[in-house]
Amino acid sequence: MKEKLAKIREEILKQINASENLDKLNEVRVSALGKKGALTEVLKSMRDVAPEERPRVGQMVNEVRAEIEKALETEKAKLEDLVLEARLKNEVIDVTLPARKNQVGHRHPNTIALEEVERIFVGMGYEVVEGPEVEKDYYNFEALNIPKDHPARDEQDTFYINDQIVLRTQTSPVQVRTMEKGKLPIRMIAPGRVFRSDEVDATHSPSFHQIEGLVIDKNITFSDLKGTLAEFARELFGENTKVKFRPHHFPFTEPSAEVDVSCFKCGGKGCRFCKGSGWIEILGCGMVHPRVLSMSGIDPEEYSGFAFGVGLERIALLKYEIDDMRLLYENDIRFLKQF
Ligand code: DAH
Repeated sequence: MKEKLAKIREEILKQINASENLDKLNEVRVSALGKKGALTEVLKSMRDVAPEERPRVGQMVNEVRAEIEKALETEKAKLEDLVLEARLKNEVIDVTLPARKNQVGHRHPNTIALEEVERIFVGMGYEVVEGPEVEKDYYNFEALNIPKDHPARDEQDTFYINDQIVLRTQTSPVQVRTMEKGKLPIRMIAPGRVFRSDEVDATHSPSFHQIEGLVIDKNITFSDLKGTLAEFARELFGENTKVKFRPHHFPFTEPSAEVDVSCFKCGGKGCRFCKGSGWIEILGCGMVHPRVLSMSGIDPEEYSGFAFGVGLERIALLKYEIDDMRLLYENDIRFLKQF
């Protein structure tokens, strides 16, 4: 029995030392100490040992068992160290490699221009409001004094969702929505996306942005409109900018005007930028039509107001001297980087 045990011990210890990885070592452990393992078999055969011998043999078996367990433990730790070492070797970081460059984002020229416009009007006490891009025909046209058969509808090639719902062709419907709320006086700007069924070219896109402005109070006159927009132009394009109001027609304002600013490139002498005229058109405006006021529940006998609409892309193109609107939509990082 003693010899048999010694042989088993020797054999198992040899196997433990020869295990080249943790899986192999585990196999050895099972074959030695498992239910059907060599040492377990010995324990089972204790039956055949004479009773007076049993304590001694039992002790021997336990000693061998303890020794084997210790050897397994030691070998396991050794193999685990090897695994860790191999992993660390694989994960070496070469600090001399060149770093990967992170692309930093840039603000879009539209965003910069919008923030500039907002800064100017918020500074004059205006509120910034928003309206829906999918709009009722009523708000986009009807309530702005553009009935169904009005020729102005043809000028704004409209995307219809159905015969009552459109993609808004202008930000002017936000005027109506604001007036309907009934909180007076009003001083607001409403920036946002608008849609027209236009072909894409250097100055057109089916989707672009406008900034609407509306002021309603008692005793608002055309000179308030002129003063406000002159100040706006000076802040946006520089101290020496002059404004010119040309009579125009919009269905929702009366009287209406288009506003030109003196060319900030040549100071008004005439250059390529202003096509020789010395003036650059920047927006449409006028005194809110009495019919528009009363349709929105405001008494035109008591209140009056002015409105204006600016094309955001137009401002961005002018300010940053970009000659093709498509550049604003392509989001080419080489272009955007410049702002
Ligand atoms: N909604 C007009 C357009 O898209 C722009 C405009 C003109 C807005 C005059 C106004 C305004 O509020 O008073 O062409």
